[in-house]
Amino acid sequence: MRLRQVLVVLVVTVLVLCGLCTGAGVWVWNSAVLSTADQVDFTRPLAVPPLAPSHLDAQGRRVFELKAQAGTHDFGHGATPTRGYGGSYLGPTLRAARGEQVVVDVANGLDEATTLHWHGMHLPAGMDGGPYQGIEPGTTWSPTWQIDQPAATLWYHPHPHGRTAQHVYQGLAGMFLVDDPATDVAALPHEYGVDDFPVIVQDKKFHGDGRLDDTAPFLSGIGVLGDTVAVNGTVGPYLEVTTQRVRLRLLNASNARSYDFGFADGRTFALVGSDGGLLPRRADLSRIMLSPGERAEIVVTVAPGERVVLRSYPPQLGTPLFDRFSGGADTLDILQLRVSSGAVARPQVPERLVDVPRLDPSGAAQRRSFSLGGHAINGKGMEPARVDAAPVLGTTEVWRVVNNDGTPHNFHIHDVQFQVASVDGHAPPPWLAGWKDTVYLPPNRPYELVMRFADYADPNTAYMFHCHLLAHEDAGMMGQFVVVPADSR
Ligand code: C2O
Ligand code: CU
Ligand code: CU
Repeated sequence: MRLRQVLVVLVVTVLVLCGLCTGAGVWVWNSAVLSTADQVDFTRPLAVPPLAPSHLDAQGRRVFELKAQAGTHDFGHGATPTRGYGGSYLGPTLRAARGEQVVVDVANGLDEATTLHWHGMHLPAGMDGGPYQGIEPGTTWSPTWQIDQPAATLWYHPHPHGRTAQHVYQGLAGMFLVDDPATDVAALPHEYGVDDFPVIVQDKKFHGDGRLDDTAPFLSGIGVLGDTVAVNGTVGPYLEVTTQRVRLRLLNASNARSYDFGFADGRTFALVGSDGGLLPRRADLSRIMLSPGERAEIVVTVAPGERVVLRSYPPQLGTPLFDRFSGGADTLDILQLRVSSGAVARPQVPERLVDVPRLDPSGAAQRRSFSLGGHAINGKGMEPARVDAAPVLGTTEVWRVVNNDGTPHNFHIHDVQFQVASVDGHAPPPWLAGWKDTVYLPPNRPYELVMRFADYADPNTAYMFHCHLLAHEDAGMMGQFVVVPADSR
């Protein structure tokens, strides 16, 4: 009798626990999917970051000023404490032309040290703003370099080791546009704030009191995933479009989330540029996926009087079972385009865009392999005293990079723009046909990247390469390289 009672109690307990577990499991599984499709009220005009003023100094250098500072910003949750450059959230758009010598006076008005990195910029390691070029509170850092790369959509953000995720999440970021008549196409929309717009996409999450919440969701493994999208800092944004073609410079400035951008009505758009410049040819696509740090320039054709929504569809992260815990099942409405009834015509996007000289992988002086997994690269975490690679000035290298765990990662390198030579042994797709500095790595698919170390040998100052999911980068998923002069072998 007692034995039977014990058995019954045991069985019932097990059944109840299983039920609870299954229930909890189902809840965890289902709650990891977010959709805001057709649910966003687009009631706020999209903020367009102003172009940063600049002046020429006595030596003819173009001088910008940026000041990192604290403030509060309205995301629809009251006054949220944030940070920005020269304002309370994000920073102005810097714009300079190839050949110009620029100086940026970066003042730190924060209560802690920061740095400022020029993501995608080809420049000397000492000007790069990596983890070592700390700017103490109350001081100013003034890097200077000559712009020497094709027309492109670049960006800037802090890089203090272990603090990058926080600094960026709080609002420290902005765009840097490079102009170069030789590698731009006049037929593309190019009037900033008229037919050519920065679209800085970030996901945010809030505490009940309106503060930014940067905690990672259960099972995420990649850091914060927000339920609210801000574009240029605007939540629920609409953009009044006055032209029948509009160029959107998409920047994924989110900490962890990848987006697969497209339009709600499924229309195609012309992809014209990737991280480091325009593509050789336009690619007509209905989706373009961007992982954190990546950019894409698209031109979308719109009809007078219509409204169309830029949406992010579930990105193919390549981690089937776990996609949903990394935002891979989420659909998010991003930005509404409201086209005026009098919208004026703009030229067709040409088929061929710019010459992108192909880097030849067979001429590589060196091949290297990097495997990303477990918050480390080749099993090693970031170590300031360790240099992982020393490419020789003037040489071309092939870096084979692979994600070897089941978590989303991407690969970003400072100093150079690379070309993707192959993806898992195959020719790269059209959207990877141009210059890149950041590329998404689905698990177990090796990417071969060709890069040329043409300038700026400095054996004593390192550039970084890392996963651009900021929580991973902060956790040490980063390595260092120095470019050494040819005679130092
Ligand atoms: Cu955008 Cu090393 O980073
Ligand atoms: Cu960078
Ligand atoms: Cu990663």
